[in-house]
Amino acid sequence: MGLVKDGAILLQDGRIAAVGKRARVEARKEAKSAEKIDVGGRVVLPGFVDSHTHLIHAASRAEEYELKIQGASYEQIARKGGGILNSAKKLRAATVEKLKKRARAALEEFASYGTTTVEAKSGYGLDVASELKILQLQRELKSEQPLEIVPTFLGAHVVPAEFRGKPHGAERYVEILIEQMLPEIVNEGLAEFCDVFCDRGAFTREQARRILSEGKQHGLAPRLHAEQLSRTGASQLAIELGAASCDHLEKVNDADIRALGRSKTVATLLPGCDFHLGWKAYAPARKLIEADAVVALATDFNPGTSPTVSMPMVLSLACTQLRMTPAEAISAATINAAYALRREGEIGSLEVGKRADLAVFEVEDYREIPYYFGMQRCWMTIKDGQIVHMRD
Ligand code: NIG
Ligand code: FE
Repeated sequence: MGLVKDGAILLQDGRIAAVGKRARVEARKEAKSAEKIDVGGRVVLPGFVDSHTHLIHAASRAEEYELKIQGASYEQIARKGGGILNSAKKLRAATVEKLKKRARAALEEFASYGTTTVEAKSGYGLDVASELKILQLQRELKSEQPLEIVPTFLGAHVVPAEFRGKPHGAERYVEILIEQMLPEIVNEGLAEFCDVFCDRGAFTREQARRILSEGKQHGLAPRLHAEQLSRTGASQLAIELGAASCDHLEKVNDADIRALGRSKTVATLLPGCDFHLGWKAYAPARKLIEADAVVALATDFNPGTSPTVSMPMVLSLACTQLRMTPAEAISAATINAAYALRREGEIGSLEVGKRADLAVFEVEDYREIPYYFGMQRCWMTIKDGQIVHMRD
């Protein structure tokens, strides 16, 4: 963790110019003219890096939440046209203004919980125009508000309704994705990563391989939704393709764990999904850590499986349910998540030269950040040296 007691950080031009013991930082010549913010002994850590979200969606799915509580499973609801298709229908009908208003409110809330970087996936459009609508909106949002947004193309979320039950429907959709969506997205520079939901009821491993390989040729780095509902071998595909990350991993087997331990592909865990869906079997975080995998944590903010923007809540789940230590959880939500977004040289730790992205918590000990759950303890958030959230 590199804990520093009675520390200080000197911020200059949106970057960290000095960090360490207060007396040493204050003795620096540039510190003399700096504006001082006294955080009163609170805990300062790097702003959270939320490396997996479905930021742009039109509405909640609270009606499905109630069905799930009454016993319907996530997959049963999806097979009846609910789930991701339900969200796609709503997104296609929504105006850009409405989507923007909702996303802006969410981004302000992300900041209020200490998050400074948000990866954001498309994937509720599922046709050329609607996928572009999402990615263009993400670009607008990036320039209109302070948080960093890292764009991922997830056209391969599920096969859209209009291709279902048609001969070779899935294959025809994959064709459109590769021949129409990808080139346009790449031409406009709208995405950095390409993702596929590779699972039962979504895309097969072979389809995922094809889409991610095409994306890679176009310069989009791969990442994957892997082993969430069933074990498909998607995590080993991720490793084979040199993916930045494979996410979920509830159903990984021992061979997958060993392979992840040997690879640089990050194992991103999303315990908010298991919590929200009421699943008892969380991903095997301890085994992954013991195998030497790079473990990251993210919210997976989305209307179907994880309606939260709170990284502190994810840390609580990681500690209580995944048995990660508070130090492991904080590393997973900052530097390891930065690595999952290929930005470990820029964000994710408090080091000289990195972006001045900080979260200040109203606690006396960093372990109290996961210890308090479902509570708002983030006192101040700073992005690129500017205060973007301040409590009261
Ligand atoms: O990460 N698993 C696929 N995608 C999302 C869920 C999307 C939805 O249900 O709307 C996830 O869990
Ligand atoms: Fe997801």
